[in-house]
Amino acid sequence: MSSSHNPYMPSLVKIIDIIEETGDTKTIKLIFVDEQTQKNFSFKPGQFNMLTVLGVGEAPLSISSAPGEGDYFSHTIRRVGNVTGAITRLNVGDTFGARGPYGNGWPLDKIKGRDILIVAGGIGLAPLRSVIYYIKENRDNYGKVEILYGARTPKDCLYRREFDEWREIPNTRLLLTVDNVPEGTKWEHDVGVVTLLFDKISLNPSETAVLMCGPEIMMKFAVHNLLEMGFKDKDIYLSMERRMNCGISKCGLCQIGPKFVCQDGPVFSYYELRNLTEKIF
Ligand SMILES: Cc1cc2nc3c(=O)[nH]c(=O)nc-3n(C[C@H](O)[C@H](O)[C@H](O)COP(=O)(O)OP(=O)(O)OC[C@H]3O[C@@H](n4cnc5c(N)ncnc54)[C@H](O)[C@@H]3O)c2cc1C
Ligand code: FES
Repeated sequence: MSSSHNPYMPSLVKIIDIIEETGDTKTIKLIFVDEQTQKNFSFKPGQFNMLTVLGVGEAPLSISSAPGEGDYFSHTIRRVGNVTGAITRLNVGDTFGARGPYGNGWPLDKIKGRDILIVAGGIGLAPLRSVIYYIKENRDNYGKVEILYGARTPKDCLYRREFDEWREIPNTRLLLTVDNVPEGTKWEHDVGVVTLLFDKISLNPSETAVLMCGPEIMMKFAVHNLLEMGFKDKDIYLSMERRMNCGISKCGLCQIGPKFVCQDGPVFSYYELRNLTEKIF
């Protein structure tokens, strides 16, 4: 996206489709209103945009589509407050602002040739959906893939309509769990926190890179379990969430010790995180 002179100036985007994921979460497909800006827009899985609603504010949102998925990009947005509330109230054809892409994204070049363990909780699957389709498109570049996803209830699972397609990606397993199953709901998968699925991991820790995103408490327990299982801190990559303002390492709001989550992250290896001055977990 060209942010020519003023890096804070958003470009206008238009909603071309809306998919209701769950009671509080929608995936919106977007294009830049300016054709050239849309053509020039490229991003990596794990990067995010700052989405702006005039008079309301800005919020960082991961790009949930994969590069090359189509002539659009998408965000999966959980309604929690002002900006996410305003965006999820919009309709197809409505416009608002976006600037980006920002952040480093997942280290998909660095982990070429390795097996991949994806661990996601709740809305944390959004930046990993982008990875799943990226791997599908570049399947020969990676080894076995196991996707572990935990949500609150079956109805809170994002991208349910896509699960069969994910299972059909060669050498790929998808394991699901939910915290609880309301009476009368059909659910043929596990019940419990996502770490319960770790018993079913068939990947060799020394050959595997882990990509993880979810609530910080989930990531804390997941990281500790994985370390005990023999995964190395340098191979565990986490996408960190912090409140953000500028998105371009100017305001300091997102800092963890000396690192700017908006620019040095949001993806860090656990090795990096554990060596920061502030103890993360
Ligand atoms: C790099 C990055 C990627 C993200 N990707 C996604 C995504 O793909 N989908 C998605 O739904 N959300 C994502 N988030 C979270 C999203 O940015 C926040 O939910 C959003 O900023 C809330 O803005 P709001 O104006 O709607 O809420 P506000 O009105 O600002 O706040 C509502 C409530 O949410 C809390 N809150 C606000 N921002 C954050 C935050 N960053 N972290 C934790 N709590 C917060 C507030 O403390 C308050 O309790 C991401 C955050 C980061 C940093
Ligand atoms: S959000 Fe301003 S420094 Fe990162």
